[in-house]
Amino acid sequence: MIKTVIIGVGNCASSFVQGLEHYKSNPKNGGMVTPVINGYSASTIEIVGAIDVDHRLVGKDVSEAIFSGSNSASKFCDVSPLGVKVVKGNVLDGVASHMSESFQVKESQESVNVADYMESVEAECAICYLPVGSEHAAKFYAEECLKTKVSFINAIPVFICSTPEWDEKFKSAGVPCAGDDIKSQFGATYLNRVLVESLVKRGFHIDDLYQLNVGGNTDFENMLDENRLESKRISKTKAVTSLYERNGKKIPALRIGPSDYVPHLGDTKICYINVNGTQFGDVPFELELKLKVQDSPNSAGIMIDVVRYVRVARDKGMSGTILAISAFGFKHPIQNFGEQEIIENLEQFLD
Ligand SMILES: NC(=O)c1ccc[n+]([C@@H]2O[C@H](COP(=O)([O-])OP(=O)(O)OC[C@H]3O[C@@H](n4cnc5c(N)ncnc54)[C@H](O)[C@@H]3O)[C@@H](O)[C@H]2O)c1
Repeated sequence: MIKTVIIGVGNCASSFVQGLEHYKSNPKNGGMVTPVINGYSASTIEIVGAIDVDHRLVGKDVSEAIFSGSNSASKFCDVSPLGVKVVKGNVLDGVASHMSESFQVKESQESVNVADYMESVEAECAICYLPVGSEHAAKFYAEECLKTKVSFINAIPVFICSTPEWDEKFKSAGVPCAGDDIKSQFGATYLNRVLVESLVKRGFHIDDLYQLNVGGNTDFENMLDENRLESKRISKTKAVTSLYERNGKKIPALRIGPSDYVPHLGDTKICYINVNGTQFGDVPFELELKLKVQDSPNSAGIMIDVVRYVRVARDKGMSGTILAISAFGFKHPIQNFGEQEIIENLEQFLD
């Protein structure tokens, strides 16, 4: 079993945990990228621990916590009690001042020693699902993983696994890691990348592009603070501009990123992509596209693969940032590739 700890029991964690239960009982159902990876199916992932700071989640079984507090991800599966209670971690910069209603922290509630906790639950893998902008908190949990030799998967746009410094730290500890900033199964970033790659390959020239995303979950509420958002913008923009750089093309005028919080949308995310440029004969074209998805299942749909790929890396004795996994599953890997190369690299990694 792949003994996994969730750090941040929010909407993504909710969809992830529901997905594990759903595919355990319906292994033949569609909806996953890769049903079996080197013998590992969804049912080989076991949640052995969960860390949060919101007092409405702490103390509850994970199966209940994922539907508590401010979590709004849709319920697509009943989850039976896991026998794993959420414990309180270290708040640090995880809760922005404008989020104190949405993430309710009780100072009187005691925090665990995270390294001791990881050891007590015999964790081998941890997923960092903290709010955007949790720079210190994410690095704190990454350090605790290093101490306890737990593989670290960073779903958030705090640059850890994509830096040579942390790659080296994980290498020295003999532990694999993958990140940063999870790239949803079929989300705005993936769609934008595929679109840009195919337009460029077919000889179209792009003059300008925007990708505006709106949503109504706590992730979007948290990102109202533009200071916390800086790394998210870098991550999302780089995921697209890297394709131009790799093809030796001039980067067009562009604006990419979360654009507003619309509370009544809940976990629905809407992405608008607009591209202007020229086609054959320098004649102008315009492309306008709208994608409407449930945000959290979209990220869980890729995380269920990433956790199993990281286990394969562990089986192979690999350590440090695993490039093939990071480029496949994340917006901000240590090195960027086109989508076709990503698949080829992943196949090579599995060989
Ligand atoms: N499609 C997607 O949903 C998607 C895609 C890419 C990246 N991400 C990123 O994944 C992360 C998680 O997204 P989400 O929608 O689940 O967020 P969320 O707001 O639903 O959940 C965040 C959780 O973290 C908890 N938390 C805050 N500070 C903490 C701390 N110091 N220690 C432990 N827990 C703490 C909060 O109480 C909350 O339960 C975000 O950074 C988001 O940007 C999501």
